[in-house]
Parts: sequence; structure tokens; C-alpha cells
Amino acid sequence: MRPVKIAPSILSADFARLGEEVRAVDAAGADYIHIDVMDGHFVPNLTIGPAVVKALRPHTAKPFDVHLMIAPVDPYVAAFADAGADIITFHPEAGPHVHRTIQLIKSLGKKAGISLNPATPLEVVDYILEDIDLVLVMTVNPGFGGQSFIQSQLPKIRELRRRIDALGKPIDLEVDGGINAETARIAIEAGADVLVAGTATFTGGPQHYAENISKLR
Ligand code: DX5
Ligand code: ZN
Repeated sequence: MRPVKIAPSILSADFARLGEEVRAVDAAGADYIHIDVMDGHFVPNLTIGPAVVKALRPHTAKPFDVHLMIAPVDPYVAAFADAGADIITFHPEAGPHVHRTIQLIKSLGKKAGISLNPATPLEVVDYILEDIDLVLVMTVNPGFGGQSFIQSQLPKIRELRRRIDALGKPIDLEVDGGINAETARIAIEAGADVLVAGTATFTGGPQHYAENISKLR
């Protein structure tokens, strides 16, 4: 079995104590810190901007996995790179030139990820898979934490696993939305190697984070 990374989504953290929350999930064994950026336009919610990412940066050395749910995306990539993002993931619907956005992210020395909504066909990666570092399969419609895992995405995860293995490049296959102990197992079986978990990580408060994370792994 391949090792599985856990990326707590701080969308479910206590926003009044974000620095402490990031330190707590770091200590509890998080591999990445998943930061959900929403613009109230591409998705129906507003969350975090580059100033908050920058403020969190001194609180952990773990990679910042920044999930941009914003359109247009290109004008904001440099701000998130400067703020301390390590992986910058965007949705192909967020701009007309997916390949150019990938080049932009990489030109800033960051890892590039592409995120597929539940209805986005996996063919969107046909000509770019070898250029990216991460594919994020959404197993909910983006916008909110606490939604239910959409099972119809499993064939997409399986096919992406096949393509990534065939390519032989270390591309993360990340799954985001509705992950709990049961859906984590299903997603891992389908080929996921990074699990985003908001609700499942932060449930019960800081004394439970380590146990919550190890249950998913
Ligand atoms: C949804 C976000 C997710 C969300 C996951 O738009 O991209 O990262 O925080 O939350 P849970 O794990 O609660 O489904
Ligand atoms: Zn996310």
C-alpha cells in the first residue's frame, strides 16, 4: 500500500485561533496544510486571502497546499506564491489558458495542481499531466465543508491513478470533500494518496486531532 498523506483543511478550524490551529494539526501529524481560498463568485462562499496565508506562514514548516476556488485565477497567483504557498491548485474553469496558468505557477518556483469538479471530465488533464505536480479530485461541489462524499467520482480517481502510474512521475492524487474514516478507505483503494479532511480532522477539538488524523491514514 502506498503511503497516504493527510491534508487538514483549515476551513473547519476555529478562525479566531488559526495560528494555534495550524500548529496543532502540524503537531498531530498533518502532512500538508490545505487552505481553501474562495471568492464568492467561482464558488458561493468567501474565505481566506493572501494576507491570512502570509500570517500563518511562520506557524509551521509543513507545505501549504493552497486550493484556489477563484476566477479569474492568474491575477492572484503571484500574491499567493509570495505569501508562502508551496502547492498552488486551480480549477480549469477559472481561466481560458490552463497551460499558461501552470507555467505561471511553476515560473514562481511553486508546485502546480489542477482541481476537477464532480462534473469536470478527467480528459482535461490529457495534455498537461506531465506538467503538473498534483491532481485534486473534488468529491463534493466546492464551496463548503461538511458535505457528503460523491461516490460517482471513484472511477475518475481510479483512471487518474492508472494514468499517473503509467507516466511514472511523482504526481500527488488528492481527494477533497466528505472524507471520513469510511470514505478515506474507499478513496485510498481507488488510488488516492493525499486526503483533504476538514470536518474529520477538526471534530472534537485539539485533543482529538492526532487520533482523527491517524484514523484517516
Ligand atoms: C470544499 C473544500 C474542502 C472542504 C472539505 O470546497 O475544497 O477542502 O474544506 O471539507 P470536509 O472535509 O468537511 O468535506
Ligand atoms: Zn479544498
